[in-house]
Amino acid sequence: MNVAIIGAGYVGLVTGAGLASLGHMIRLGEANAERVELLQTGGVPIYEEGLEELLGESISSGRVSFHQSNVEAVEGAEFVFLCLPTPEGEDGRADLRFINSVIDELANEVSSDAIFVIKSTVPPGTVAALRKRLADNGSQARVVAHPEFLREGRAVSDFLNPDRIVVGAWDEAEAQAVAGLYSDLDTHVVVTDPTSAEMIKYASNAYLATRLTFVNALANVCEAIGADVLDVVDGLGRDHRIGPHFLQPGPGYGGSCFPKDTAALIAVAEDAGYDFELLRAVIHADEEQRRRVTEKVRQAAGGGLKGRRVGMWGIAFKAGTDDVRESPAVRIAALLQAEGAEVVAYDPEASIETLTMATDPVAAAADADVLLIATEWPEFKTVEMGRVADVMRGYRVVDTRNLLDPKEVRAAGLDYWGFGRPGV
Ligand code: UDX
Repeated sequence: MNVAIIGAGYVGLVTGAGLASLGHMIRLGEANAERVELLQTGGVPIYEEGLEELLGESISSGRVSFHQSNVEAVEGAEFVFLCLPTPEGEDGRADLRFINSVIDELANEVSSDAIFVIKSTVPPGTVAALRKRLADNGSQARVVAHPEFLREGRAVSDFLNPDRIVVGAWDEAEAQAVAGLYSDLDTHVVVTDPTSAEMIKYASNAYLATRLTFVNALANVCEAIGADVLDVVDGLGRDHRIGPHFLQPGPGYGGSCFPKDTAALIAVAEDAGYDFELLRAVIHADEEQRRRVTEKVRQAAGGGLKGRRVGMWGIAFKAGTDDVRESPAVRIAALLQAEGAEVVAYDPEASIETLTMATDPVAAAADADVLLIATEWPEFKTVEMGRVADVMRGYRVVDTRNLLDPKEVRAAGLDYWGFGRPGV
């Protein structure tokens, strides 16, 4: 099938490369001229495991092309996927200006049997409003909801092995047309109305954020009563009704989805007259988690942070990505700096202007009073802790991800403070 994808961000690029690998012809529209030029010359603007290879294959098979003009991208399109950002507005509500302006731009540029496919996360009711918007523009084009569930760092693998595909349409034939794009994948397709499809996306992210915040709260209690949260979540996750995934305690959630989608769902509920108190508590507890980390680093530094140096391993919001959006690491670094600490960070993929970046983990630990592990990059486990101990000024390691082996750290003469574990 002929598919146009508008927006060459991580969702658009992965979806485009993935659909091309399933045999479809893809035309990607992207407003940023530099990005288009980079893609046209074989570059990939984001780090995402497997994407370069998948995109490379699609380009050499002639199935993908890149266009700075959206109008040019939708030429001959049977489906127009919108993979545009829906950032959090000032009041927590999703900002739909990119989606609305592209719908206005393309309403009369597509053929009358084309289907707009909304991949971006949009509040329930948006696709219904877009249907009206298309009609107001005099367009016959149809529109369906088709939320994405790709995790950064695993997006290519998630695209090729989805847990489910969700399509929200008023018309069964439209839903089946979109589902048909994935007929080579062995997965379950949930077909529903657009508003329910939009809600599935918010429900998934809000539930996962709640689950993590619950685990972080458990870690805090475990720490206070001398229980080991890693054993607790192991026992918890073996109940088949709960399951073992997404139970690792940490510094709180980050990234481009959870913070904005939780806030947006609260706003959706509020507009409908329901106070989503539970989710408000989740957001509050999640913020509190970063303050707890800061407090722990303060204690590890001897009670005050002014003039102290903190070596920080990891600034990406999680391992496997170079994304620092809403990263707990970056937010903790800002809290530490606000108390007068100097933060020197190392990350294998990410960097940020507000922090001094070191070129390797040992260099980040040099002269540090405290070493803070903020992102769970596996390579940190292979750093020789003896070398770290040699270069540090202090001797405490605060590990927000329970990533390192406490015995190894201690064997190097350092003091190890994990999260939610007795004696560590
Ligand atoms: C998320 C959703 O999972 C995905 O379906 C959606 O489409 C986009 O948002 P992503 O933002 O890439 O994906 O990150 P995810 O892997 O879900 O992790 C979110 C946050 O939870 C990260 O900050 C991560 O460090 C944290 N996390 C995750 C934990 O602290 N512990 C865990 O066990 C899992």
